[in-house]
Amino acid sequence: MRHLIDFGDLTRAEWQTIYDRAEQIMADPAAYSDACKGKIQANLFFEPSTRTNFSFQTAMMRLGGSIFGFADPKSSSVAKGETLKDTIKMVSAYADVVVMRNPREGAAKAASLYSESPIINAGDGGHMHPTQTMADLTTIQHYLGKVDGISIGLCGDLKNGRTVHSLIKALAKFDNVKFYLIAPQELRIPEYMRAFMRAQNMGFVEVTSLEAVMPNLDVLYMTRIQQERFQSPIEYEQVKGVYVLTRRKLERARDNMLVLHPLPRVDEISVDVDDDPRAKYFEQARCGMYARMSLLMDLAMQEHRVPDPVEIGTKPVCKNPNCITQYEHYLPPLVKETGGRCCCAYCDKEVD
Ligand code: NCD
Repeated sequence: MRHLIDFGDLTRAEWQTIYDRAEQIMADPAAYSDACKGKIQANLFFEPSTRTNFSFQTAMMRLGGSIFGFADPKSSSVAKGETLKDTIKMVSAYADVVVMRNPREGAAKAASLYSESPIINAGDGGHMHPTQTMADLTTIQHYLGKVDGISIGLCGDLKNGRTVHSLIKALAKFDNVKFYLIAPQELRIPEYMRAFMRAQNMGFVEVTSLEAVMPNLDVLYMTRIQQERFQSPIEYEQVKGVYVLTRRKLERARDNMLVLHPLPRVDEISVDVDDDPRAKYFEQARCGMYARMSLLMDLAMQEHRVPDPVEIGTKPVCKNPNCITQYEHYLPPLVKETGGRCCCAYCDKEVD
């Protein structure tokens, strides 16, 4: 069974196929209105979402399939204490594809061990969000005509922003991408991502000033400070509003630079930027729907397959307090090697 847990699971050729089909759908959406006829998609949103949930719903509707699910776990058996395993075993028998968002890191990987239908990770805590990456790459390729060789500035909460982590993983598959990682000290990229970039020989610099690097960029990827992932309100207060992109700051940018943002925006892009032709964040959300349609046309067409039994775990080997293994103790203690380090196979954090 092929799932989409992490963009790293895809080869560049596989991504190219998804992108090419997304462009074809964009050009003639009516031609695809029956492409997933009879298919049923489950949307399990254990954490709030607007764009991703709606985007996946409309993507399946536009392909002629149907959807069920929840947007609030309090309205499901999860509120009664049901395990992730049981929810997934049941739902994956009902549905042909399961789209899942969860606040715990590694939750989508955990779900894939028990699912008889493909799992699509629609965000797992501060870890990964691969279909947002599909939206991002589709927008870059569509408007700049290439991804290889670009200079990209990732700005804001690089510590907790899963869209940033997924995008970096994906850009490892392209050639000569130069990264400017723009964040205050407290919100720098996590160490496991830095180790990944070094292991992949990716060119990156870490800076604190957005203005200083603005003239060098082909893409500026702004992100929201992820308030809900802070341990204390005081820590959030110290960094909130740290970067605000304004029309005046854009004067230093290239004429064809793209301003992207996964949305929702809080205050990091002022509204006077919206009418600048370089602002592409609303188009990005549209591109995301087409990219998701293209993905569903691939993944949702697979036959159901009951997975082989896995080892029953007893206690977590991973120390990350937000790792899914801290909450679902029956999960097998899986580890993997990344850049010469032993890492948790669910959340990617180093295991000592
Ligand atoms: C992002 C997310 O959920 O990680 N939103 C989205 O999916 N478009 C970004 C965010 O919440 O800041």
